[in-house]
Amino acid sequence: MEKGEDKHEEEQDQVVNPWEVTAKDGGKIDYDKLIDKFGCQRLEEPLVDRVQRLTGRPPHVFLRRGVFFAHRDFDEILNAYEKGKKFYLYTGRGPSSEALHLGHLVPFMFTKYLQDAFKVPLVIQLTDDEKCMWKNLSVEECQRLARENAKDIIACGFDITKTFIFSDFDYVGGNRSFYKNMVRIAKCVTYNKVVGIFGFSGEDHIGKVGFPPIQAAPSFPSSFPHLFSGKDDLRCLIPCAIDQDPYFRMTRDVAPRLGYHKPSLIESSFFPALQGETGKMSASDPNSAIYVTDSAKVIKNKINKYAFSGGQDSVEKHRELGANLEVDIPVKYLSFFLEDDAELEHIKTEYGAGRMLTGEVKKRLADVLTEVVDRHRAARAAVTEEMVDAFMAVRPLPNMFD
Ligand code: TYM
Ligand code: TRP
Repeated sequence: MEKGEDKHEEEQDQVVNPWEVTAKDGGKIDYDKLIDKFGCQRLEEPLVDRVQRLTGRPPHVFLRRGVFFAHRDFDEILNAYEKGKKFYLYTGRGPSSEALHLGHLVPFMFTKYLQDAFKVPLVIQLTDDEKCMWKNLSVEECQRLARENAKDIIACGFDITKTFIFSDFDYVGGNRSFYKNMVRIAKCVTYNKVVGIFGFSGEDHIGKVGFPPIQAAPSFPSSFPHLFSGKDDLRCLIPCAIDQDPYFRMTRDVAPRLGYHKPSLIESSFFPALQGETGKMSASDPNSAIYVTDSAKVIKNKINKYAFSGGQDSVEKHRELGANLEVDIPVKYLSFFLEDDAELEHIKTEYGAGRMLTGEVKKRLADVLTEVVDRHRAARAAVTEEMVDAFMAVRPLPNMFD
């Protein structure tokens, strides 16, 4: 059994699962503790160096700065790759809202880098069925949101010759191989086990209890006969934030019993809420999040009004003591999206010493995020309905490993 299983939130200090992310009262998410509790591995520098060596590209800023901080058997993917064996990438999105927020872009931007660097195929699951069961949304509304979200995902720049995007309602029902894997997985998972991993209670409807095999199945190449027929040995690498780990703990647990490889994972920390690192940026609280649809003015206002500052209460005190960078959200956000290492260091030094004021840092952050959002908006506007159909067409990808 994978370590970390069946230990669902026994200590009530911090909660991290696919539906809830909260730190211990007023504190920050303790990622070291999470690694321990879930039983994943820390992503150390030698592994990052290996990525650079193997791909001949500088590591993505999310790797350099430890945004992706944990993994499961990522080294095995690299070992195989070194011997000339490729793999495929799998990630996903639960279409619960019209607009994505910046936190959602994190795994997709990173997955795009991985696809380009390793030159490998990618499958993206849109779990419209999941959101229909968890949120108060109709089947039809979730299908519509899946298509809208697909446009945002395509706007991240994925290569259409290497990428298959699918919605569960469309693809799973019509694909016997996928459904067979779901049934095989479901047979290996007892009720006690899903309760242990996901914390379901007697009040949860049975759809929730039955969902995890649907998110597990894309981890196995045989679920995609139009892509990977005859390639049952292909390994899978899943980039996601660490809230998704429970699904894949379960998946890895059943894989050997089915004669499949366990999927490998590369996991990120959360892009935090504006209010502080006690939770993740969440679509259900508009004041916690910056959406990819927010205008420059909205971004500026949200940052000024809500971004938790480590600066001191008065200018005099700030000049004397400097900012507390540990809790400062503008600095944290810049560490995700300001790519220039030298400028980031400069800001940290000056702000930490009190020579730079919160207002200046917030202004720089507003400019940086506005640029990210504007770039995304322009890319999304260029995505047509035909492109969505093309990415979602069930088709072979003959050049997916080139
Ligand atoms: P969803 O739509 O909640 O989130 C999509 C992806 O974004 C990550 N994420 C974040 N990353 C950083 N900071 C944040 N604040 C933040 N909020 C969300 C999530 O971890 C996820 O990677 N059930 C899934 C859909 C899914 C999936 C998968 C995800 C299906 N198969 C395989 C990852 C891997 C969902 O609803 O994700
Ligand atoms: N379960 C995820 C959510 O609730 C969505 C998802 C499906 C996903 N498949 C994935 C996320 C693969 C990352 C990787 O948001």
